[in-house]
Amino acid sequence: MNVADTERAATRLSEAGYHLAETEDAADVVIFNTCSVRARAEQKVFTRIGEVRSYRKGREPLIGVMGCVAQLEGATIFDHAPSVNMVIGTRATDRLPALIERAMGGERRTLDLGERDAEDNWNVSTVERHSPYVAFVPIIEGCNKFCTYCIVPYSRGRERSRRVYEIVREVKRLRDEGYREVHLIGQNVNSYRPKSLEGLEDYQGATPFSRLLRAVAATGMERIKFTTSFPRDFHTDIVAAMEEHWNLCDWVHLPVQSGSDRILRAMRRGHKVSDYLRRVEAIKNAGRRIALTTDIIVGFPGETEEDFEDTMRLVEACQYDSAYIFKYSTRPGTPASKLSDDVTGAEKTARFLALERLQREIQRGIYANYVGREVSVLVEGESAKSAEDMTGHSSCHKVVNFKGNKELAGKVVRVRILEAKTNSLYGEMVTGAKAHTA
Ligand code: 5AD
Ligand code: SF4
Repeated sequence: MNVADTERAATRLSEAGYHLAETEDAADVVIFNTCSVRARAEQKVFTRIGEVRSYRKGREPLIGVMGCVAQLEGATIFDHAPSVNMVIGTRATDRLPALIERAMGGERRTLDLGERDAEDNWNVSTVERHSPYVAFVPIIEGCNKFCTYCIVPYSRGRERSRRVYEIVREVKRLRDEGYREVHLIGQNVNSYRPKSLEGLEDYQGATPFSRLLRAVAATGMERIKFTTSFPRDFHTDIVAAMEEHWNLCDWVHLPVQSGSDRILRAMRRGHKVSDYLRRVEAIKNAGRRIALTTDIIVGFPGETEEDFEDTMRLVEACQYDSAYIFKYSTRPGTPASKLSDDVTGAEKTARFLALERLQREIQRGIYANYVGREVSVLVEGESAKSAEDMTGHSSCHKVVNFKGNKELAGKVVRVRILEAKTNSLYGEMVTGAKAHTA
């Protein structure tokens, strides 16, 4: 989401005549796009601002802070970091050029925490995209779920779904420009609920999101991924759409957060363990293997050793392809911040490590199973580790490295897996008849 926001900001700025500097050292304006989902991410921006300030002493650039930290902290950022000239909220991205102009004109504290303009400008130019082959396409922004630990509903505001025809048009354009993969993105993609369903074919009882998936699949875009899915709104019609369309890739990211019903209730997630497991079962029973990944928080207020054991059991049962594990971090202003953060740092660390160890073990088994099998890989570029290797992602969203040359970049190739590493696969390219593989 943040990468997509940065692309959008860069597009607005280049439309207004600005050029992206090669390095921040050469820039007249430096804008930090920020995340506040955990305390550590939030602190990072102030460290980075300090760094830029110290090595640009005497020729300071204009400094702006955009994104979630900007939205939440507003004008207090100017007090906290006096070298900041602009604070640009999460819905002010389209107004960046005008804000820079105000700051350049001498305004000392330029602040915009306002709502979006009536007509959003979602257009992102090809040159500003992070990859020439993979494109992010936001379909919904914001969040209405108010999980008790989470700052996102406050920083990003309420859910707003983008129009169907705009999304489909953008995917078609990306297809025509040579993109091979799109990621439909949003805090909760499967809560997609546009004002009008025009342009979506009706399937009995199907949710707007699975209808959108079908419409996007029908554009013929080669590979389509989507993230993040919210468990309560994850209905089996999504799996049905994936089974019907080969270009809907074999990967679902479905954050569970905890394996204890007591903690899930305290988190106000809106699902129980049993609801979640039913969804996992539907995913595991699909006609082809769908990779499953998740997010988990350890050490939520009041989490006992038994609650944590429940999480361990759930992770064992779900057999995740990978999991992001986080230690609970209090976010001021959220309902959970009123609870006592009573799991000690040492306990959080111990639970984090135990869960990580279990997940690594599970992952080892899953990855080892790929050895000898073929996967389809979108080649994204040279591997950072070896000049002889190319790297990309499989349709099941695993990093795959293989021996190959630069000309393969942007192609979808088949790779036979020879070796499984902790977080990646290594293989050799195979040529011959193309088959649909993970
Ligand atoms: N503390 C720790 N982890 C958090 N997340 C969100 N809020 C918090 C918090 N206060 C995690 C959740 C979410 C992921 C993006 O970040 O697991 O799914
Ligand atoms: Fe945060 Fe919950 Fe919304 Fe996800 S669904 S962004 S965890 S409030």
